[in-house]
Amino acid sequence: MQLPKGEAADLLLLADGAFAGERDPWANAANAAALVFECLPDLNWAGFYFLRGGGLIVGPFQGRVACVRIPLGEGVCGTSAARRETLIVPDVHAFPGHIACDSASNSEIVVPIEVEGRLVGVLDLDSPLHDRFRPEDATLLEALARKIAAASDWRLAGIDGFGNGAGP
Ligand code: SME
Repeated sequence: MQLPKGEAADLLLLADGAFAGERDPWANAANAAALVFECLPDLNWAGFYFLRGGGLIVGPFQGRVACVRIPLGEGVCGTSAARRETLIVPDVHAFPGHIACDSASNSEIVVPIEVEGRLVGVLDLDSPLHDRFRPEDATLLEALARKIAAASDWRLAGIDGFGNGAGP
Protein backbone atom coordinates (compact mmCIF):
# COMPACT_ATOMS: atom_id res chain seq x y z
CA MET A 1 0.00 0.00 0.00
CA GLN A 2 1.37 3.39 -0.96
CA LEU A 3 -0.36 6.38 0.64
CA PRO A 4 0.33 9.88 -0.70
CA LYS A 5 2.53 12.18 1.35
CA GLY A 6 0.41 14.48 3.49
CA GLU A 7 0.13 17.61 5.57
CA ALA A 8 -1.62 18.15 8.90
CA ALA A 9 -5.02 18.51 7.22
CA ASP A 10 -4.59 15.08 5.61
CA LEU A 11 -3.49 13.24 8.73
CA LEU A 12 -6.83 11.75 9.75
CA LEU A 13 -7.75 10.69 6.21
CA LEU A 14 -4.36 9.10 5.71
CA ALA A 15 -4.74 7.33 9.05
CA ASP A 16 -8.08 5.89 7.89
CA GLY A 17 -6.27 4.53 4.83
CA ALA A 18 -3.38 3.13 6.85
CA PHE A 19 -5.63 1.43 9.44
CA ALA A 20 -8.15 0.05 6.91
CA GLY A 21 -8.64 -3.67 7.45
CA GLU A 22 -5.85 -3.90 10.05
CA ARG A 23 -6.56 -4.66 13.73
CA ASP A 24 -3.00 -5.17 14.96
CA PRO A 25 -2.10 -2.36 17.41
CA TRP A 26 1.65 -2.49 16.68
CA ALA A 27 1.10 -2.24 12.93
CA ASN A 28 -1.35 0.64 13.32
CA ALA A 29 0.90 2.44 15.81
CA ALA A 30 3.90 2.10 13.49
CA ASN A 31 2.01 3.62 10.58
CA ALA A 32 0.47 6.31 12.80
CA ALA A 33 3.91 7.36 14.05
CA ALA A 34 5.18 7.56 10.47
CA LEU A 35 2.15 9.61 9.37
CA VAL A 36 2.44 12.06 12.28
CA PHE A 37 6.15 12.53 11.67
CA GLU A 38 5.54 13.14 7.98
CA CYS A 39 2.43 15.33 8.20
CA LEU A 40 3.31 17.69 11.08
CA PRO A 41 6.25 20.07 10.68
CA ASP A 42 9.04 20.75 13.19
CA LEU A 43 9.08 17.44 15.05
CA ASN A 44 12.12 15.50 16.20
CA TRP A 45 10.20 12.58 17.78
CA ALA A 46 6.72 11.12 17.34
CA GLY A 47 5.50 7.85 18.75
CA PHE A 48 3.80 5.78 21.39
CA TYR A 49 4.22 4.55 24.93
CA PHE A 50 1.92 1.68 25.96
CA LEU A 51 0.67 0.56 29.35
CA ARG A 52 2.27 -2.80 30.13
CA GLY A 53 3.30 -4.27 33.48
CA GLY A 54 1.94 -1.30 35.41
CA GLY A 55 4.04 1.32 33.60
CA LEU A 56 4.63 2.81 30.18
CA ILE A 57 6.94 1.09 27.68
CA VAL A 58 8.04 2.59 24.39
CA GLY A 59 6.16 1.49 21.26
CA PRO A 60 6.58 2.31 17.58
CA PHE A 61 8.10 5.73 16.92
CA GLN A 62 10.03 7.95 14.54
CA GLY A 63 13.04 9.83 15.84
CA ARG A 64 16.10 9.15 17.93
CA VAL A 65 16.44 6.26 20.37
CA ALA A 66 14.17 6.96 23.37
CA CYS A 67 13.96 6.00 27.01
CA VAL A 68 12.25 2.62 27.22
CA ARG A 69 10.21 2.62 30.44
CA ILE A 70 8.39 5.52 32.10
CA PRO A 71 6.56 5.01 35.42
CA LEU A 72 3.01 6.37 35.63
CA GLY A 73 3.10 9.85 37.09
CA GLU A 74 6.66 10.58 35.91
CA GLY A 75 7.77 12.82 33.08
CA VAL A 76 5.34 14.42 30.66
CA CYS A 77 4.18 11.04 29.35
CA GLY A 78 3.65 9.47 32.77
CA THR A 79 1.84 12.58 34.01
CA SER A 80 -0.48 12.67 30.99
CA ALA A 81 -1.17 8.94 31.42
CA ALA A 82 -1.86 9.22 35.15
CA ARG A 83 -4.14 12.25 34.72
CA ARG A 84 -5.63 10.92 31.48
CA GLU A 85 -5.41 14.36 29.94
CA THR A 86 -3.59 15.95 27.05
CA LEU A 87 -0.56 17.97 28.13
CA ILE A 88 0.98 20.73 26.05
CA VAL A 89 4.39 21.70 27.41
CA PRO A 90 5.75 24.88 25.76
CA ASP A 91 9.18 24.52 27.42
CA VAL A 92 10.12 21.02 28.52
CA HIS A 93 13.04 22.37 30.56
CA ALA A 94 10.53 24.11 32.82
CA PHE A 95 8.42 20.95 33.38
CA PRO A 96 9.26 19.36 36.73
CA GLY A 97 10.43 15.79 36.16
CA HIS A 98 10.64 16.04 32.39
CA ILE A 99 12.51 13.02 31.01
CA ALA A 100 15.01 14.18 28.39
CA CYS A 101 15.38 11.55 25.65
CA ASP A 102 16.72 13.80 22.89
CA SER A 103 18.53 16.97 23.92
CA ALA A 104 17.11 18.63 20.80
CA SER A 105 13.59 18.59 22.28
CA ASN A 106 12.25 21.91 23.58
CA SER A 107 8.48 21.49 23.56
CA GLU A 108 6.18 18.49 23.77
CA ILE A 109 2.57 17.32 23.52
CA VAL A 110 1.27 14.07 25.01
CA VAL A 111 -2.21 12.69 24.32
CA PRO A 112 -3.67 9.71 26.22
CA ILE A 113 -5.21 6.83 24.29
CA GLU A 114 -8.25 5.25 25.91
CA VAL A 115 -10.37 2.26 24.97
CA GLU A 116 -13.74 1.71 26.63
CA GLY A 117 -12.73 4.06 29.43
CA ARG A 118 -9.39 2.32 30.04
CA LEU A 119 -5.95 3.76 29.35
CA VAL A 120 -3.89 1.83 26.77
CA GLY A 121 -1.04 4.31 26.30
CA VAL A 122 -0.06 7.76 25.10
CA LEU A 123 0.90 9.44 21.85
CA ASP A 124 3.97 11.65 22.38
CA LEU A 125 5.37 14.35 20.05
CA ASP A 126 8.54 16.37 20.65
CA SER A 127 9.70 19.49 18.82
CA PRO A 128 13.03 21.28 18.69
CA LEU A 129 11.04 24.56 18.66
CA HIS A 130 9.93 26.25 21.85
CA ASP A 131 6.13 26.56 22.19
CA ARG A 132 5.50 24.47 19.04
CA PHE A 133 2.10 22.97 19.95
CA ARG A 134 -1.29 24.71 19.79
CA PRO A 135 -4.77 23.65 20.89
CA GLU A 136 -5.48 22.70 17.24
CA ASP A 137 -2.67 20.14 17.46
CA ALA A 138 -4.30 18.70 20.57
CA THR A 139 -7.66 18.45 18.78
CA LEU A 140 -6.06 16.72 15.78
CA LEU A 141 -4.00 14.28 17.84
CA GLU A 142 -6.90 13.44 20.16
CA ALA A 143 -8.91 12.54 17.04
CA LEU A 144 -6.02 10.35 15.86
CA ALA A 145 -5.87 8.70 19.30
CA ARG A 146 -9.59 7.88 19.06
CA LYS A 147 -9.07 6.44 15.57
CA ILE A 148 -6.22 4.12 16.55
CA ALA A 149 -8.11 3.13 19.69
CA ALA A 150 -11.15 2.10 17.64
CA ALA A 151 -9.20 0.55 14.76
CA SER A 152 -7.08 -1.83 16.85
CA ASP A 153 -7.70 -5.02 18.83
CA TRP A 154 -5.79 -4.31 22.04
CA ARG A 155 -5.96 -7.96 23.12
CA LEU A 156 -3.21 -8.58 20.55
CA ALA A 157 -0.72 -6.28 22.27
CA GLY A 158 -0.46 -7.42 25.89
CA ILE A 159 -1.74 -4.08 27.16
CA ASP A 160 -2.63 -4.12 30.87
CA GLY A 161 -6.24 -5.16 31.25
CA PHE A 162 -6.54 -6.43 27.65
CA GLY A 163 -5.15 -9.97 27.85
CA ASN A 164 -1.68 -11.46 27.53
CA GLY A 165 -0.73 -10.54 23.98
CA ALA A 166 -1.53 -14.01 22.68
CA GLY A 167 -4.45 -12.72 20.67
CA PRO A 168 -8.23 -12.95 20.97
N1 SME B 1 9.96 13.60 27.36
C1 SME B 1 9.14 12.48 27.71
C2 SME B 1 9.87 11.18 27.56
C3 SME B 1 9.68 10.54 26.24
S1 SME B 1 10.56 11.24 25.02
O1 SME B 1 10.23 12.64 24.86
C4 SME B 1 10.47 10.42 23.61
C5 SME B 1 8.62 12.62 29.13
O2 SME B 1 9.05 13.53 29.86
O3 SME B 1 7.79 11.82 29.52
